Amino acid sequence: MLETAFALARPLLNALDPEQAHELTLRSLEAGIHPRAAPDDSRLAANVWGLAFTNPFGIAAGFDKDARVIPAVLGMGLGFAEIGTVTPRPQPGNPRPRVFRLNADGALINRLGFNNGGHAAALGRLKRQPRGIIGVNVGANKDAPDLAADYVEGIRCFYDVAGYFCVNISSPNTPGLRDLQAPAALDNLLGRVLAGRSEAMAAGKPGRPIVVKIAPDIAQADLEAIVAVLMGRGIDGIAIGNTTLSRFGVSDAAVGRQSGGLSGRPLFHRSTVMLARVYRLTQGRVPLIGIGGIDSGVAAIAKLEAGATLLQFYTGLVFQGPGLIGRIKRSLLDYAEREKLTRIGEATGVRAEAWAARPLEA
Ligand SMILES: Cc1cc2nc3c(=O)[nH]c(=O)nc-3n(C[C@H](O)[C@H](O)[C@H](O)COP(=O)(O)O)c2cc1C
Repeated sequence: MLETAFALARPLLNALDPEQAHELTLRSLEAGIHPRAAPDDSRLAANVWGLAFTNPFGIAAGFDKDARVIPAVLGMGLGFAEIGTVTPRPQPGNPRPRVFRLNADGALINRLGFNNGGHAAALGRLKRQPRGIIGVNVGANKDAPDLAADYVEGIRCFYDVAGYFCVNISSPNTPGLRDLQAPAALDNLLGRVLAGRSEAMAAGKPGRPIVVKIAPDIAQADLEAIVAVLMGRGIDGIAIGNTTLSRFGVSDAAVGRQSGGLSGRPLFHRSTVMLARVYRLTQGRVPLIGIGGIDSGVAAIAKLEAGATLLQFYTGLVFQGPGLIGRIKRSLLDYAEREKLTRIGEATGVRAEAWAARPLEA
């Protein structure tokens, strides 16, 4: 029924500016207008970082930057929700328009620039949420004199409510942010972030997993050094990845010229190859979150086989609506049935070598 309503609403949403359409979507979800999923089959369950995920499929950062719609996201059948990116102080982001649809490509380009209501507002909402696995994606204010300090503040602020943290150093829309991926800067940043966690643990709090989200645009030579720093620092997981600056595979040349990060279908191949390369470098020692262009069961399964333990999506939801969540979980179950898996996690990395060997642009 609501699925039909969504199908009817699609042309309306499509006629609106993408950001207005998103705001309308958030308001409907806040009002509780969304399909409700049945409980998950136990073959989809995953125990990661000591957290019990009922399924491995979550919403990527950026959809619910300010933690407004977590009950709806979880109620629609996703296994976890990542909020943010949040920065210590509220900020408006870049001038509009700053989100563009590429309909023929099932893609978006955005240059939002971490528009968000700041730590305090999101924390207030999170404290009122029912339980569920909530990742908090932390970033830095555009005008922060010390970017790393903003991340540490995020860890401190959300420590009691976060299921895990995602340190976002890969958004292309905050000047200087991706420079934090340079090995020396990354090592310094992680040292400070992990010291923030140690402080909380010394005060008797549980250890929270810390994941780092990287760009899908890192050159192979740099990737090895970056992964070495992440593993050297004992990071708990790696998310691959954020939006890309590449326009490979984009057919809409006019919109493709907009600056910003590209997400959706054209990102799928690149991000899956990168995921497999990270899996090969980490030898499966930490869980990876596979993100980028998941818009079907086939795409979700490919991410698992390339090395993902957890999955996230955003753009697929924009183009296909919430029905996609159930379709993807059904495909995962069919796959588990076919391959005789007792847990879907047994598929992680089974085709990593083949994926890692592919060119990034193909
Ligand atoms: C409009 C929009 C806003 C986003 N904002 C964030 C963000 O604040 N922080 C972040 O880490 N990623 C952000 N992302 C990136 C997504 O989390 C995800 O990594 C990327 O879109 C690739 O997944 P997809 O192809 O399924 O959309 C954003 C993506 C979009 C489309």
